[in-house]
Amino acid sequence: MAEAWKRYRGAPQAGTRICALSDIPNENTLCLDLDGFPILLVRLGDDVRAYVNACPHQYLPLDHKGDKLISADKTILRCTNHAAGFSATTGEGVEGLGIGECLDRIPVAYEGQSILVGDSGAV
Ligand code: FES
Repeated sequence: MAEAWKRYRGAPQAGTRICALSDIPNENTLCLDLDGFPILLVRLGDDVRAYVNACPHQYLPLDHKGDKLISADKTILRCTNHAAGFSATTGEGVEGLGIGECLDRIPVAYEGQSILVGDSGAV
């Protein structure tokens, strides 16, 4: 569901600044807490994807047991708890306990070098 992220407690408003693009290592991830709302960011060049950092398997943060989430080929995010795999670009479950599940994607917008929460549904 495109707007499932809004159902989480503390979901930020559109236009809320998340971080600077340069805060996210290229071809890697950054997990942060935005006033109590857990966000997982993936940067592939200038393209940034954001997901609620809650694995649909047990709703634990994907980085609960470490910060190495992205696969060597930069296509899959693997939960550190039980290795569910999700597409880095869509959040769709592609491996193990991720099959049939999906990360909840958050739309993003760009303002200069800042990454913001985007308008609803515009992912
Ligand atoms: S909590 Fe992510 S795979 Fe179990």
